[in-house]
Amino acid sequence: MDMGKLAIAGGKTLRTTPFTAWPMARKEEAVALEDVLTSSKWGGQPFPGKHADAFARKFAEFHTTKYGQCVNTGTVAIQAALRAIGIRAGDEVIVPAYTWEGTVGPVLLVNAIPVFVDIDPDTYCMDARLIEKAITPKTQAILPVHLGMRFADMDEILRIAAKHNLKVIEDCAHAHGGMWKGRGAGSMGDLGAFSFQSSKLITCGEGGAVITNNLEYMERVQSYINAGRASVTDKYHHRIVGFNYRLGEFQAAVLGPQLDRLPEQAAIREKNMMRFAARLQNTPGIALLKPDPRITRLAPYGYVIKYFSEKVKEIPRASFVAALQLEGIPCDGLFYEPVYKSSLFPVDPNDYPALSWGREKPLDLRSMYSCPEADRAAYREAIWFPHQNFLGSTEDVDAITDAIHKVLENIEELRGLDHKAIRNQKLGRADRES
Ligand SMILES: Cc1ncc(COP(=O)(O)O)c(C=O)c1O
Repeated sequence: MDMGKLAIAGGKTLRTTPFTAWPMARKEEAVALEDVLTSSKWGGQPFPGKHADAFARKFAEFHTTKYGQCVNTGTVAIQAALRAIGIRAGDEVIVPAYTWEGTVGPVLLVNAIPVFVDIDPDTYCMDARLIEKAITPKTQAILPVHLGMRFADMDEILRIAAKHNLKVIEDCAHAHGGMWKGRGAGSMGDLGAFSFQSSKLITCGEGGAVITNNLEYMERVQSYINAGRASVTDKYHHRIVGFNYRLGEFQAAVLGPQLDRLPEQAAIREKNMMRFAARLQNTPGIALLKPDPRITRLAPYGYVIKYFSEKVKEIPRASFVAALQLEGIPCDGLFYEPVYKSSLFPVDPNDYPALSWGREKPLDLRSMYSCPEADRAAYREAIWFPHQNFLGSTEDVDAITDAIHKVLENIEELRGLDHKAIRNQKLGRADRES
């Protein structure tokens, strides 16, 4: 077999050393864990745990809000936020088509109905221009996601919400530390929901938080995630059925040092990302997401670029991404799908009765939507680089751009090539061969 230049075609791998490992732990995490270990207070009781409480206050303040509460996952953070604003069975909640399934699952879990809108090709976030068309008399809330490295257009979303008397929950699972016109991610809507799952910018393995400026909402969140017990302040005396969604103290303990380290890490990422963007300028077939000056502090969970196969001899994204991976660059193409098409969203209307209420036939969420921009991003265009690729040296960043240029220069080697990495790139993350 002829050896190509590309590693995927038998050539030399461009990058053989690993990028910065994530999650990252230092001695501060060990000290905090030791403190929990010897304290005999491992759970979230008495509520809220010492570490969870201290972190939640700091985290809320960091995002310019008054109140914060840790929970055990980001999915639960969204669920608790939906409960806090009083979403009930049969209500409709507007969500973006292109996101992680965990944005949408909680809407179904409270027996409400997700209504999908397409994304803005400039940001890959919910397209605010399409929201009003999706509003019906049953709509109660908008649930934008600040996806990847951009914000949903909060100016427009807040304007539309005020006009139609809707609530807003910001899914900030990608946006730790992000700011929009000086306001923290999660502080502009009624509540903000964060995830601390392993891949996130602050992580404790699994975890989440809800932030808000509204004490009544915070009290409901606290009751809901603490088995229905009274909230810490209990000013509004709400009593609801709740569940145990508390965050344990081992996990809460490592969040403090992670938050302390975020500004320093954000600065490294930002510097590296600027270099990355500069080196990718004028690269044929590659475009960057449009910058938005309203984002006053960047929170890049993933650096997202666009790949245009029509400008590179019709070589599909799956082949391009697989070739980059084989050059030693962690990246992904089919990172998210339009949620309603995903194999992780096999909605059975028998499980979610509100989908049938008042209708002859239940809503078929899997087939009733068409979101061409989400399709384009998901299946052809978007390439995601994990944030930790940008936490290292200048050489790390240059390896990524060098690999992109190498693959583009030798793109013909990919024509007709079959490789497991290419086959995997045609599948969603949950369906790949290991
Ligand atoms: C956009 C988005 N929303 C929600 C979630 C749910 O968070 P978790 O995995 O902590 O439940 C995630 C993360 O996985 C996410 O990326």
